[in-house]
Amino acid sequence: MAKSAGSEPLNGPMQRLEQIAHLVRSSRNAFTTLDRALHTLTEVLGARGGAIVLADASPKRQQEWACGDDQRQIIQMGRELVDGVEAHGEATARHTVLPGSRPGRTSEGMVLSTPLTGVQQAIGVMVIFCLKQPPVPLGTALACLNVVGTVLGCHLQTASLQERLKAQPDATSDAAAGLAASYNPDQIVGHSARMKAIMHEIQQAANSRSTILLRGESGTGKELVARALHKLSARRQQPFVKLNCAALPETLLESELFGHEKGAFTGAVKTRRGRFELADNGTLFLDEIGDMSLAMQVKLLRVLQERNFERVGGHRPISVDVRIIAATNVDLEEAVRHRHFREDLYYRLHVVPIVLPSLRERREDIPSLVGYFLARFNAENRKHLKISSAAMDLIVEYDWPGNVRELENCVERMVVMTRRDIVAPEDVPLSMSLSPPPLAAVAETPAPSPETRSSTLPKAVAEIERERLVEALQTSGGVQTRAAMLLGITPRQLGYKLKKYRIAPKTLIG
Ligand SMILES: Nc1ncnc2c1ncn2[C@@H]1O[C@H](COP(=O)(O)OP(=O)(O)O)[C@@H](O)[C@H]1O
Ligand SMILES: [Mg+2]
Repeated sequence: MAKSAGSEPLNGPMQRLEQIAHLVRSSRNAFTTLDRALHTLTEVLGARGGAIVLADASPKRQQEWACGDDQRQIIQMGRELVDGVEAHGEATARHTVLPGSRPGRTSEGMVLSTPLTGVQQAIGVMVIFCLKQPPVPLGTALACLNVVGTVLGCHLQTASLQERLKAQPDATSDAAAGLAASYNPDQIVGHSARMKAIMHEIQQAANSRSTILLRGESGTGKELVARALHKLSARRQQPFVKLNCAALPETLLESELFGHEKGAFTGAVKTRRGRFELADNGTLFLDEIGDMSLAMQVKLLRVLQERNFERVGGHRPISVDVRIIAATNVDLEEAVRHRHFREDLYYRLHVVPIVLPSLRERREDIPSLVGYFLARFNAENRKHLKISSAAMDLIVEYDWPGNVRELENCVERMVVMTRRDIVAPEDVPLSMSLSPPPLAAVAETPAPSPETRSSTLPKAVAEIERERLVEALQTSGGVQTRAAMLLGITPRQLGYKLKKYRIAPKTLIG
């Protein structure tokens, strides 16, 4: 017993180092390798969580990765360390108290960090946070970090050089070449447990022919996942055809799906193939399937069952080999109950459901998404905007009713509109988003009469707070920094409160 306890801890890191060396040797994507190496190391050190933060000079696809718990706080430590990172730096350990995700909660432990260094260049930092002593001697842990930091740093440096070389032939045309090298529209960003589970489901489902139903609120990435499923399948060389079932009136939808024969209806001057035929051997993505009319549902069900159909105005059955991926944000069970959606079609589609979580349910992914979009819009706008941690906190706390699509738009506006180099909380254009409901209503609500006055103290306090916020914003003409000053709070606190009470400053003015 004593033997295994003695040899295992020393063997463990050695084996893991070999694994990491293997990851690097067989790497196709430096960033995926980085992420996997981080996971491996966090695991071997029994750490609570870990993060990698890249310095500015590194390739700009994504800047931050994290795994485990307390990711935001660990990323934050990484950000603080990355500015001072030096090419000849070494791994260090220090005792630290990490602020918790909720006020008043802290975690005490040890932070191990190492620079990621290439040849004469600091590329970033890796931070590992352990609540208890690592299961290996501290010296061994630091030696491991030193080795991994250098291996990963050199790997990134090489990958970035390769990327630049590849981009060179176009470099004369425009800086757009740099953009092409750094932004990949197919990338699914997210390291939360929920997203990892989804990536796993995608891998599993991609190669079967089963119908897949993608569910989730608007903007959660259903189409992105549909494309990923296609790209990972054996059909990847064949067409991916998309049709939005909500966008077309019924008759048009029918001829779009099944095609039509010449003369089938006025205007059908020649025979036209429908999306089913166009997608033959490939994938047909039926978006917003929950909005399809009952009559179309019957027709679709028939094709799914019999795998053949006729063109509109035609009589010859056409059979195709198509993999169907459907998507909806509608509550299909509810629609079935109300008879807006056919139960038999529901079961046909519901073979492999994949449910995409809202952004609110995976806030830990927000920093990486922001980094990803920031890199993209910076490149598109030829800017070098960075984001302050206060602004990032505000973004992470926000509710994102429009999910990743809303976040993407927000970052784009932020990049276009912000004049300084570092985004402050007041530069984050959250209030322009979809959900600025009844501020006008708030402002116009008459003072409560004694009878209707809020019954509990917290409610009454909230009401007063909201009134004061509205007042201050009106006085300041909607300028948030001034309003915050008037109220004696920081702009960041003001930002939180505006979100909390769903107050949109813009609707208050004029
Ligand atoms: N996990 C993700 N990583 C990167 N981009 C994402 C992610 N999820 C969504 N997006 C982006 O957000 C936008 C909305 O995604 P989309 O797939 O159209 O959502 P949906 O079909 O669910 O409405 C797209 O620009 C998409 O590329
Ligand atoms: Mg969509």
